[in-house]
Amino acid sequence: MGNTGNFVPAGKTNELEDGTMKAVLAQGREILLARVGNNYYAADNSCPHMGGKLSQGKLKGTVVTCPRHGSQFDLNDGRVVRWLKTPGLISMVSKALKLSRPLTTYRVKVEDDTILVEI
Ligand code: FES
Repeated sequence: MGNTGNFVPAGKTNELEDGTMKAVLAQGREILLARVGNNYYAADNSCPHMGGKLSQGKLKGTVVTCPRHGSQFDLNDGRVVRWLKTPGLISMVSKALKLSRPLTTYRVKVEDDTILVEI
C-alpha cells in the first residue's frame, strides 16, 4: 500500500470466481487480481524475488505462492509469509540479511460490478 493514485477499472466481479486469481493489465501495469469470498485483492503480478508470475502460482486463503521458488505473500498487505522454499539454513540466512522483499499491493474497491484498483 502506499501511493495514492487513481482508481482504475481492472475487471468485472463476475469474471473472477471465489478463491481464484488472474493477471490483468491496468494502465499498462500487470496486476494480480484475486478474490476470496467477496473480498478482492490486487498486487503486482511479478514476484519481488525474480519476477515469477504470481498468477500462475497458487492461492490459499489470502496467501499466494510463487510458482518459481515458492515464496509466499499475504495479499492483505504484501507481507512475506515465506521467502523462498529452501531448507532452514538458507532461509535463516536470507532472513538475517533481510534479503526478502514484500509484495507491492494496491487498494481495491468495487463499484456495481466493476473492480477498481488504485494505481
Ligand atoms: S521468483 Fe518468486 S520466489 Fe523466486
